[in-house]
Amino acid sequence: MGASLPLGGVPGESRRSRGPKTLPGQAQRRCAGRGRRTRIGGMTETAVSGAAVAEALRAGTRAPSPHNTQPWLFATRDGEIDVRLDESRVLRVCDPDGREAVLSCGAAVLNIRLALAAEGTACATTLLPDRREPLLLATLRLGAGRTPSAQDRRLAGVIAARHTHRRPFTGEAVPAAARHVLVRAAADEGARLHLLDGPGQFDTFAALLRRAEHVQRHDPAFVAELAEWTGRGDRGDGIPAAAGGPRPSSEPALSLRDFRGADATDATDATVAREYERTPLVAVLTTPGDTRRDALRAGQALQRVLLTATAAGLSASFLAQPVEVPRVRAELRSLLGGRDFPQTAWRLGHGHPGTPTPRRALDEVVTRPGTGERP
Ligand SMILES: Cc1cc2nc3c(=O)[nH]c(=O)nc-3n(C[C@H](O)[C@H](O)[C@H](O)COP(=O)(O)O)c2cc1C
Repeated sequence: MGASLPLGGVPGESRRSRGPKTLPGQAQRRCAGRGRRTRIGGMTETAVSGAAVAEALRAGTRAPSPHNTQPWLFATRDGEIDVRLDESRVLRVCDPDGREAVLSCGAAVLNIRLALAAEGTACATTLLPDRREPLLLATLRLGAGRTPSAQDRRLAGVIAARHTHRRPFTGEAVPAAARHVLVRAAADEGARLHLLDGPGQFDTFAALLRRAEHVQRHDPAFVAELAEWTGRGDRGDGIPAAAGGPRPSSEPALSLRDFRGADATDATDATVAREYERTPLVAVLTTPGDTRRDALRAGQALQRVLLTATAAGLSASFLAQPVEVPRVRAELRSLLGGRDFPQTAWRLGHGHPGTPTPRRALDEVVTRPGTGERP
């Protein structure tokens, strides 16, 4: 096989599929459909088909990202998948350091890992594999076949169903067993999930959220950037007005980001005032450090938490404002004990199915191997 799995080998997109391919660096085998396993000397080797890789990359694109910017680029080469940061899609005002964009790429990495695992392909992930290439965030080396765990299957099975839910929740409490699995999901990826149900913690968080939301809402540059990414019509990125929540009928306990923008008068139910639940479960994800590597770990943890929540029938809204405003982030850090660094926050509860947001086609996010450039 040649040196790469070329973009033209990504089936199901606007380019014509060239049929299943074996990834280079692995034994060339007849790959029907999603790949085929052969036993060699007691080991199981997998020839991963182009279709399976394309499906995994498509799963990567289902990751959440701030304002649905989708700041990732993927390339396949020598039995590996590279995940790069697309700097042109970093939000200059909301996310000047690109931390949230890196979180999003980490979330995409987890989706790719899970999609491959669910198809029976193990992969070894190296974060920041090349110092000279800071935009190369992760390389996934596709390895031997392995039997997918029930958990891999369960989480991969809800990648497409997971959405950000910005509507009112029912008020039903998140059961203790579900809280436990969410905390464990974050720990599995080297992060920590703090559930703010201690005395006063919820109220303090709500006050920090109000402050951060106030700062952002009164920053014309922030408002302009948000407007730029909201209601973009048929584009494959940004947030459709319908994905925003309805106007609250009374001051809600937690201030949600307002995506209704100029489209607020549309005939969507975003214009109908609704009562929000009083005490949703608030969770804050933290990491021991605040480097790019920490953000990549946090991104994978973020996505494992969200998929675990989805699989448990829970809904989640991001409440990232207090983490995005530096001085509020410092206070949030103190609230959590002052050691770890907050990476993102959510409200969790029982909601109704969310509105899907669009994604760009694979053609737009797959680059030539080793370059980060489109073919
Ligand atoms: C790091 C990060 C921060 C986010 N912050 C917010 C936020 O503060 N408010 C919000 O409503 N959505 C927030 N989102 C959710 C994105 O808007 C959402 O993921 C994107 O629109 C794609 O939609 P989906 O999650 O339904 O697939 C955030 C997502 C990420 C990854």
